[in-house]
Parts: sequence; structure tokens; C-alpha cells
Amino acid sequence: MPQTMRAIEITAPGGPEVLQPCTRPVPVPGSGQILIAVDHAGVNRPDALQRAGNYAPPPGASDLPGLEAAGVVAAIGPDVTRWKVGDAVCALLPGGGYAQYALTHQDHALPIPDGLSMAEAAALCETFYTVWTNVFLRGRLKAGERFLVHGGSSGIGTTAIQLAHAMGARVFTTAGSADKCAACEALGAERAINYREADFVELMQAEGGANLILDMVGGSYLPRNVRALADDGRLVQIAFLEGPKVELNFAQVMMRRLTITGSTLRPQSDAAKADIAADLLAHVWPLLASGRIKPVMDRVFPLEDAAGAHARMESSAHIGKIVLKV
Ligand SMILES: NC(=O)c1ccc[n+]([C@@H]2O[C@H](COP(=O)([O-])OP(=O)(O)OC[C@H]3O[C@@H](n4cnc5c(N)ncnc54)[C@H](OP(=O)(O)O)[C@@H]3O)[C@@H](O)[C@H]2O)c1
Repeated sequence: MPQTMRAIEITAPGGPEVLQPCTRPVPVPGSGQILIAVDHAGVNRPDALQRAGNYAPPPGASDLPGLEAAGVVAAIGPDVTRWKVGDAVCALLPGGGYAQYALTHQDHALPIPDGLSMAEAAALCETFYTVWTNVFLRGRLKAGERFLVHGGSSGIGTTAIQLAHAMGARVFTTAGSADKCAACEALGAERAINYREADFVELMQAEGGANLILDMVGGSYLPRNVRALADDGRLVQIAFLEGPKVELNFAQVMMRRLTITGSTLRPQSDAAKADIAADLLAHVWPLLASGRIKPVMDRVFPLEDAAGAHARMESSAHIGKIVLKV
């Protein structure tokens, strides 16, 4: 085992250019932890928030960015029973994925589904954990319900469309171009709404309203989401790309028995993340292994060009997931 590794660090809060190559000590796994020799690392919007200084790592987590990776177990800590050195895994990480080696809790790693490459496997955990917990546990989506997910071409959106469709929901989504809308419909969305040309509120009301909305936009979308919900509908907020503050008439929430909720994944307890992983293994990994659903891959960047990967993500030109080859 080498003593040091290549990694990408955030040199100061700022734009993509603050992501710079560095050399760091190889981390040592503690009790219940595994050390992964990272083959590919996933890039997610929360990494950009962290880079800009708006999403601090939780206590004890690496300060390096990177919330998911795929690779091979290189070392195990005391009390690790699930994995042995040499096992191929994909994993949710508390941070530190933009590196040759990364630590995670043994119960936050999953086997690589049959037929998936390391690059595809690296693109799974952050979005699948997030979609599972917010759409199916918190949002209680059921077969036959009308589900609206905003940002349909994002990593989260492409995952949510496929999973909700596979579970028998009717899927509606919004995206910012005709190409993105076509990609969303190819993944199983019944209707992808180009929000630059059409009003999702009117379209959802014409369908009877959405039973569940998964939203990452917030801002002006909050009152519009409330109007787009069916009676007894649920709105689950996972980000506020347009801002978290807004004027909202809560009488609608009361009169139409709406639920507004939300969550973030990273600060949740190890036990909560382990429960999500167990659900994914039981209910979602078979869908991936059978090819019924597949991560949508946008582009692979070399680790050293993490700045280029962030610039592409923040241009919003991408469809699906961006990953780094370590
Ligand atoms: N709560 C959690 O636990 C959790 C976990 C993971 C991710 N997230 C959040 O979920 C969101 C999606 O994550 P991701 O990694 O899938 O991101 P992503 O691939 O970068 O997608 C974000 C998409 O949002 C759309 N968008 C709509 N309004 C926007 C605006 N005002 N500014 C920028 N983009 C806008 C863009 O598509 P168009 O061009 O079509 O507008 C863009 O492609 C992010 O906000 C992220 O922070 C939350």
C-alpha cells in the first residue's frame, strides 16, 4: 500500500479553477470502514456547492470532494465483515472520492451490478440513494400515480424517471431543451415539458395534478408546484437551485391536504444510509442487473481535469452523469 495518493482538493471557495491536483496521505480505515482503490468517481451538483463554500463536509469526513465511487477494496478496518480485499464495489462516500483511495462505511458499499462498467457503477450511488429515499420512502410514490420530476436530464432526473417508470408510475418531467426532453421521454417519461416553451402547471392540472413532485429548483417553482399538485399531493424538495425563500399561500396546503417535505442525504446517520443501501440492493440492483434501468452517462473526464468536469456540469449542457477516471 503506498503512503501517498493523487487527489483533487478545493484550494479556496470559488469556481471550477479552484479544483487543483494535490498529493495526500492514503487514508487508513477505522472500525467498520473499507478503503476503496478508486477506479472512477462520480461528479454531482453538491460537489459544486461544496467547492463554492456552501456545503461543508460533515464532521469526520474528508475535505476532498466526491460523494460516490467505484473500485476495488484495497484494505479493511477492524470489524469489517461484509467485504474482503479485492472485492469490486460501488459506494456512497461521506466525501473524498476525487482521489486514488477513499474511505467509506462497509454498509454504504454495494456490489457492482452485473453488466455495468466501473464508470457506470461510479455514477450510481449518490443519485440512487437520493431518489430512493425521497421518491419512494419520503414521497411514497405508488404504481399508477402521476409523478413530476423537475430537471429531468440531470443525474437525479434521469434516475428518477427510470425508477418511477419501472415501478409503474406515470412520469412527467421538465427540462430546458428539445434534446433534453427527447432524452427524458426515451427513458420512460410519458411527457417531458420544455419549460422554456410550456407551463408545467397548466399541463399537470390538465392531467388531474401530480400526486408527487420531486423538485430541485425551488424559488418561483414553489408556489407553482403547489398549484400543480393534485389534492393530497406531496412535494419533496431536494435542492433550491433558484433559491429557498419565497412567498407562499399556505391555505392551499391546508385546503387540499398537501404535504411539503424534503431531505438531504449527506448529514444522515450511518444507520439511515445503511437502510437505504439495503433497500437498493433488494429492490433496485436487480433492475440494474437485468438491464431494465441503466445510468445515463454524459462524459468521462480524467481526475486531473475535475475543473473541466465541474465546468461542464455547471453549463447544464450535460444529459445524465459525469464521472472522473482516476
Ligand atoms: N437533497 C439531496 O440529498 C441531494 C442529493 C443529490 C443531489 N441533490 C440536488 O439535486 C440536484 C440535481 O443534482 P445532479 O447532481 O443531478 O445535478 P445536475 O446533473 O447538474 O442537474 C441539475 C439540472 O437542473 C436543471 N436546472 C433547473 N433550474 C436550474 C437552475 N436555476 N440552475 C441550474 N440548473 C437548473 C438543469 O437542467 P435544465 O437545463 O433542463 O434546466 C441542470 O441540468 C442538485 O440541485 C443537487 O444539489 C440533492
